[in-house]
Amino acid sequence: MELNNLIASSEMVDVYKVGNMCVKLFKEGVAKTNALYEALTHSRVEATGLRVPVIHEVSVIGNRWAIHMDLIEGETLADRMKADPANLDKYMEQMLDIQLEIHSKSTPKLSKLKDKLNRLINDLDCIDDVKRYELLTRLDSMPKHTKLCHGNFTPDNIILSKKGTYVVDWIAARQGNASADVGKTYLLLKLKYPEMADKYLDLFCEKTKTSKKYVQDWLPIMAAARLAENIPEERDFLMKWVDVVAYE
Ligand SMILES: Nc1ncnc2c1ncn2[C@@H]1O[C@H](COP(=O)(O)OP(=O)(O)OP(=O)(O)O)[C@@H](O)[C@H]1O
Ligand SMILES: [Mg+2]
Repeated sequence: MELNNLIASSEMVDVYKVGNMCVKLFKEGVAKTNALYEALTHSRVEATGLRVPVIHEVSVIGNRWAIHMDLIEGETLADRMKADPANLDKYMEQMLDIQLEIHSKSTPKLSKLKDKLNRLINDLDCIDDVKRYELLTRLDSMPKHTKLCHGNFTPDNIILSKKGTYVVDWIAARQGNASADVGKTYLLLKLKYPEMADKYLDLFCEKTKTSKKYVQDWLPIMAAARLAENIPEERDFLMKWVDVVAYE
């Protein structure tokens, strides 16, 4: 297989175009559970009818795990936003509508977001036990929902193609509370596209008649869970959000 057309690269994967397929190749040393879990989660999402690339094969290439799926030709919504900033509001609305469509689906076999958050916060070693107790108590008091949540929903994971708009990168998808998912997106936007974050949150609250406080209550929990990814440049930012207990 000719792996010479690299589309994207991250800490964990290299993504290649191979003919009319996209091959997501996990870096050497990445546990195979990542590839297999992503493939399983992604296939569960395929069954909801959402527009996602279809997975055709999971394989080992050299000593690296690979997921082979439909290639979605086009540009990411993030690229579009950068190229056409005058229409940012329109693109943000489009992004939110896609996320709300995702939240309208249910996938009963998918793992629960709450279980994941609980585990991550329990295992976190950069917070003390008082903070841990506070976060876990807060998490426990949050309403238990079963909506499909993407878990990493940002404009980089949305591809605009001639065939329509597709969402990729489903490794973090779980069933849970939509406001938790929106809180996660808000934090990711604050980190990468800070000018969009507050507008995005306002738009979500307005469209869904959700109180802002309800989403904000999730932020310390989602920030703590993200700390588990151990990304040094995010640490101070996330620690600040972990400590925000009440809002004006
Ligand atoms: N099926 C696909 N067809 C075309 N491009 C794709 C496809 N899947 C992923 N990509 C491109 O590769 C990029 C990285 O893929 P993906 O988001 O799945 O990996 P990742 O490891 O989660 O990367 P990151 O950490 O940067 O989010 C996407 O943002 C998208 O531009
Ligand atoms: Mg991604």
